[in-house]
Amino acid sequence: MQVVNEELAHSLKGRDFLMLVDFKKEEINYLINLAIDLKKKQKAGETHHILKGKTLGMIFEKSSTRTRVSFEVGMYQLGGQGLFLSSNDLQIGRGESIWDTAQTLSRYLDGIMIRTFAHRKVVELARGATIPVINGLTDLSHPCQALADFQTIVENKGRLEGLKMAYIGDGNNMAHSLMMGAAKLGMHMSIATPEGYEPDSDIIVQTKANAAETGSRLVVTHDPKEAIADADIIYTDVWASMGQEAEQKEREVAFANFQVNDDLVKYAKKDFQFMHCLPAHRGEEVSESVIDGAHSIIFDQAENRLHAQKAIMAAIMS
Ligand code: CP
Ligand code: NVA
Repeated sequence: MQVVNEELAHSLKGRDFLMLVDFKKEEINYLINLAIDLKKKQKAGETHHILKGKTLGMIFEKSSTRTRVSFEVGMYQLGGQGLFLSSNDLQIGRGESIWDTAQTLSRYLDGIMIRTFAHRKVVELARGATIPVINGLTDLSHPCQALADFQTIVENKGRLEGLKMAYIGDGNNMAHSLMMGAAKLGMHMSIATPEGYEPDSDIIVQTKANAAETGSRLVVTHDPKEAIADADIIYTDVWASMGQEAEQKEREVAFANFQVNDDLVKYAKKDFQFMHCLPAHRGEEVSESVIDGAHSIIFDQAENRLHAQKAIMAAIMS
């Protein structure tokens, strides 16, 4: 076990963290276990300054509560510091190229986290940087959230393999990252979206190929009842993501039958757990009764952003 862990630790050093699909099952499980271990250390008050003296630059082109605070606090707990960089203040906001920004920041920092719109931008930043780049959310994916979510499921259900997650709502960045992770980790996943809001077709193809290797079943449907049947985990996210605010009204109409509420959750397993990456809109994608009910583990998820991201940073930046 020790030798295997050393090999995995070695394979993760210096890597970018852009999409879960870039990682092997063993590497994702290693990160989940490291997150659980770092969480224990933090709660026990044990110092774990794995990144002593190191700095993470954090570029935000979209709003954030959880990502910003958890990365900054996480770096502090690891003995380093996080540096908040608003794109309004950076020269990138005035047209400096991503390449020049990446090269320059690489001379000061030990890692960069970026939250932006086009996924291509994160890929370009990673190409230009000589230090690890972490995807803190793009329009395509949100892998840090998904890793924290899988950690949360392990802690609450004791395993991932063979469990069924039902994702009800928009085939968005969250759906993509959960699909990619579930397929790698051997978890079954059924996704119900309105017509026209399905996940990206290339990601479906890639995920199905990964699922075939691990025995995970991936279903994409337009029927929320079919998706939720016998689910262990029910997951939803906002109907209009950041950058889609102008589509809010039209999406409210399209998603009207996709609210996770008491009528729908009765088709899931009795001991289902409800998850949401937050921020949530009570009364839209989820009823108050479900999100604030006994099955909800949303704040465990939010907390685990801290621990999962500490694991990512410790693994790739040390
Ligand atoms: N879930 C999540 O990424 O939250 P923030 O937008 O607050 O960072
Ligand atoms: N899908 C949401 C997730 C927020 C954490 C968005 O992109 O706005």
